[in-house]
Amino acid sequence: MSPAAFNTIATLVRARSGIVLGEDKGYMLDTRLSGILRENRLSGLDALAAKLQGVGAEPLARAVTEALTTNESSFFRDGKPFDHLRGVLPKLAAARSPGQRLRIWSAACSTGQEAYSVAMILSDLAAQLGGRPAEILGTDLSREVVARAQEGVFTQFEVQRGLPIQMLVKHFRQDGTRWQISPALRAMVRFEQGNLLDNHAGRGSFDVIFCRNVLIYFDAPTKRRVLEALADRLLPDGVLYLGGAETVLGITERLVPVTGERGPHVLRGRQGAAG
Ligand SMILES: C[S@@+](CC[C@H](N)C(=O)[O-])C[C@H]1O[C@@H](n2cnc3c(N)ncnc32)[C@H](O)[C@@H]1O
Repeated sequence: MSPAAFNTIATLVRARSGIVLGEDKGYMLDTRLSGILRENRLSGLDALAAKLQGVGAEPLARAVTEALTTNESSFFRDGKPFDHLRGVLPKLAAARSPGQRLRIWSAACSTGQEAYSVAMILSDLAAQLGGRPAEILGTDLSREVVARAQEGVFTQFEVQRGLPIQMLVKHFRQDGTRWQISPALRAMVRFEQGNLLDNHAGRGSFDVIFCRNVLIYFDAPTKRRVLEALADRLLPDGVLYLGGAETVLGITERLVPVTGERGPHVLRGRQGAAG
């Protein structure tokens, strides 16, 4: 692939998703885009770059961008944010007026494990939350992973990563080598395609936002833009969870670590109550 072709593809992916492809990622383009080359009968990445610059390339540009997302996820990933959530939800519920829904957003939800983990916690806490209604929204740039999340079917490998056996037995039905999430849990989550770079004003406000393991792919100005847009959607006492390798330090002062949390990835809006 010529440097010009790499540049065309990298510029397009960055503009559409925020994902920065370093020059060492040429190998990744070769493997991830091979299917698209085949489907479009293109001889290689130079031909693909040329086609992307032609008219009517929107569907191709979308497919290329989605193919270059990394969709790794697992149930209760890293444990701690979900333990923290168990403590926070009853406090948030107690602070809301009767009948007010708790709203939780898994932004960059990939194949849905994060959103379904939240649903399992809400189900566990149902008595403590006094029947308070809740809404879980999962969004991701990639239509393919959103479709998989909506299906709610996971492989043996996926359910073996992070999901306690009691939860598996309680919330999934085995279908051959695959596991189907229960209709009750499935009904608690709404999945839709959504780009973190878009304006989220129409989504309303959230008690809890998960935006984990996606900012690592963005440059600092994009991280700031995304974090500040999420801060705008977070209720004053709401909580934002980032991935273990992600931080707001040096990026934005709109969000601050929750008092008493050791890691820098459990956050509140600067004006939010501490603790
Ligand atoms: C590594 S996965 C993280 C999934 C989950 N949050 C977790 O921590 O397990 C990153 C996800 O971010 C999504 N993504 C990348 N850029 C995005 C953007 N601009 N808007 C929304 N989702 C994006 C990818 O499609 C991918 O599914």
